[in-house]
Amino acid sequence: MSHQLTTITVIGAGGKMGMRISANLQKSQYRMFYCENAAQAQQNVTAQGRELADAASVVPLSDVVILAVPDIVLGKVSQSMVPLMKAGAILLTLDPAAAYANLIAQREGIRYAVAHPCHPSVFLQRYTKEEHDDAFGGIAAIQHVAASFEAGSDADKAALSEVIRVMYGPVEEVHWVTVTQLAYLEPTLVETVACMVGAFMKEALDETVRHAGVPEAAAKAMLFGHIQIALAVAFRATNPFSDACMIAMEYGREKIIKPDWKQIFHQQELDIVIARMLKIDAIRR
Ligand SMILES: NC(=O)c1ccc[n+]([C@@H]2O[C@H](COP(=O)([O-])OP(=O)(O)OC[C@H]3O[C@@H](n4cnc5c(N)ncnc54)[C@H](O)[C@@H]3O)[C@@H](O)[C@H]2O)c1
Repeated sequence: MSHQLTTITVIGAGGKMGMRISANLQKSQYRMFYCENAAQAQQNVTAQGRELADAASVVPLSDVVILAVPDIVLGKVSQSMVPLMKAGAILLTLDPAAAYANLIAQREGIRYAVAHPCHPSVFLQRYTKEEHDDAFGGIAAIQHVAASFEAGSDADKAALSEVIRVMYGPVEEVHWVTVTQLAYLEPTLVETVACMVGAFMKEALDETVRHAGVPEAAAKAMLFGHIQIALAVAFRATNPFSDACMIAMEYGREKIIKPDWKQIFHQQELDIVIARMLKIDAIRR
């Protein structure tokens, strides 16, 4: 455990991420405080044997304040938490969108970081049932984390890494990038592209069953096996796609993908998608 960072508060401790990270932090040596303001979510916290704390009392004691609240309220919540924080403390958010959009309340002497779980890799060698069942990570399957701490020195990052490794554990590696790079990872790479393609494949599966009358079990078996082999060939070059397959892939690209799709990597497009996600008119510069 870090010598520098000993006390941590989770704001939004009864939400989806709050519950996940609290379950791991509770087992650690860190001195923990849990804050939650919705009645139902408060029950989630206490049902796990965690005591609720009052943010006004515990935030001033904390070396790290984790805001596990929805992105669309991060600006407002940070405005009430940042003035309570002690000088030198770290405000840690779990998604880059609000930081990228400059919505987080700023104060001299407060340090800002973001840490997002990568989730366990599709190529992870899993041995136990617990590892197989842990699709999200944070329980049994090892994952990496992408994080940003732009004002942090190497020593600061090392200390924060220890917190990140506990909250998202088991963690193999924490990758340090800038907030903008983190925003290109999520949403652009993993939500705009990967999650969209995942949902798209589900739609194609449903259409195969509906349109061609293929039994659902047969379509699922064929698709799930081919998702595995397509990823292995594309990312690991286990063996090449067959010549006929490459012709079908080229046809699919022509029919489905717009030739200028790479514009999603233009920064003005990143601004547009993040503004949409945060339900704001435009990104603040
Ligand atoms: N859900 C995911 O899969 C996931 C994955 C990675 C990162 N994240 C990030 O984690 C963060 C939290 O997302 P979530 O999905 O856990 O949200 P959520 O809606 O499940 O939970 C948020 C919790 O915060 C509480 N809350 C709101 N304002 C509060 C305040 N002022 N004080 C105390 N509690 C307050 C709410 O009552 C709720 O229980 C977001 O930044 C999100 O982008 C989420």
